[in-house]
Amino acid sequence: MKRLLSLALALLAGCAHSPIATPKAGAPSSAKAMQPGFMWGVATAGFQSEGGDRTSNWAAWEQAGKVAQPIGRAIDNWNRYKEDADLTASLGLGAYRLSLEWSRLEPSPGKHDAVAVQHYHDVLAALRQRGLEPIVTVSHWAYPAWLDEPDADGKRGWESERMQTALATHAAWLAKEYGPQIKWWLTLNEPNTLGPAAFVVGMHPPAKHDLLAYRKVMQHQIAAHKLAYDAIHANDADAQVSLCPIAINYPDTPGNGTEAVDPHLYLDEHEIYDQVAPHHADYVAFNYFHSLRLRDYVKVSKSWTWPVYPRGIYEVSKDLYARYHKPLMITENGMATFQGQARGDGWTREAFLVQHVAWLQKAMAEGVPVLGYMHWSIADNYEWGSHDPRFGLFSIDPNDLALKRVRTPAADVYQAIARAGGVSQDQLQRYPAPR
Ligand code: FCB
Repeated sequence: MKRLLSLALALLAGCAHSPIATPKAGAPSSAKAMQPGFMWGVATAGFQSEGGDRTSNWAAWEQAGKVAQPIGRAIDNWNRYKEDADLTASLGLGAYRLSLEWSRLEPSPGKHDAVAVQHYHDVLAALRQRGLEPIVTVSHWAYPAWLDEPDADGKRGWESERMQTALATHAAWLAKEYGPQIKWWLTLNEPNTLGPAAFVVGMHPPAKHDLLAYRKVMQHQIAAHKLAYDAIHANDADAQVSLCPIAINYPDTPGNGTEAVDPHLYLDEHEIYDQVAPHHADYVAFNYFHSLRLRDYVKVSKSWTWPVYPRGIYEVSKDLYARYHKPLMITENGMATFQGQARGDGWTREAFLVQHVAWLQKAMAEGVPVLGYMHWSIADNYEWGSHDPRFGLFSIDPNDLALKRVRTPAADVYQAIARAGGVSQDQLQRYPAPR
């Protein structure tokens, strides 16, 4: 066990990707590659925005004081979902990614909470009324705390095989209850972050350093996704189902070295999609933020220092389409500041948006089909233990009792991009990458 663990830590500390490739010839495109049906949207997650969660594993973690800062009311989206939907629609966007929080819907095993069930009906209706297509995550890292009770083998949470059938049973229930209102589904958010962050590096609950547990957790997540995929399809005829790993690998860098240690670590998006793309993904979704190598990513909780690399969204898109030949969806892309302050590297959210969308346009102009782009996030929210990282198109001061949403210049830029169906030459010149 010790050997495996030190191998894992060596893996996270020493290998991952070879150095980031310097940009090759080719500039981001300002061509209007996006077709009218393209989904411009934002991404959110329930635990980070709703507030008032008392029954999830993350709520238990937060209540036990294991986080840097208390969650408070998050951003009170539970009560202000219409306002946040209004803000999204006001930018001319057409999609809104959210999670329907499992712990609120099923706070104890098999017993659904009528208030929460109705709440999410209301949320989905509010989105639809504003022309926003919901993109629904079944479990965005949080799950009901009762799944952390030991199973017959004494295993908890994702270490327990029980999680596979639990997720599938819940997904079937969701599809029966909400199926007519939902087309786009994501079973799991970033399984390849949850695994390392929670079971190797000890950043997220249950904060273990246990490679054997980690391997099981990765296998359980992939198996759970497959079962949930089938369960959603069995109950929602029009469903389009996928999952969204974080994309951390580039086609023009050689393998990340993990295969020499263990072929079943599922650390990067290929290892996950190789398993699920053949029969269990209707589209290939991914989250993309930075050019960090895995070893650094899992250690860097300071997301405002994540290095910005817009070309990576192009590289990953080209690579994933070449491998799996399925339409793509960018389910998260965004940039943090520390409490809204200017970043040391000079990147602004306006430039981040313009440069990433432009590189995505280039991939599309070269024939990669992309269904949509979800910016993380419509507003600042609670970043898994801290209010310091700010990702919002609308800023929120967590100390403001009113939690007022304040429009930022990046909201104007995104609005212009969505209205025009892409980034213009003018925007590319106005918002260049900082030198
Ligand atoms: C992603 C998570 C999302 C958010 C962003 C900043 O890894 O999926 O919930 O925290 O990072």
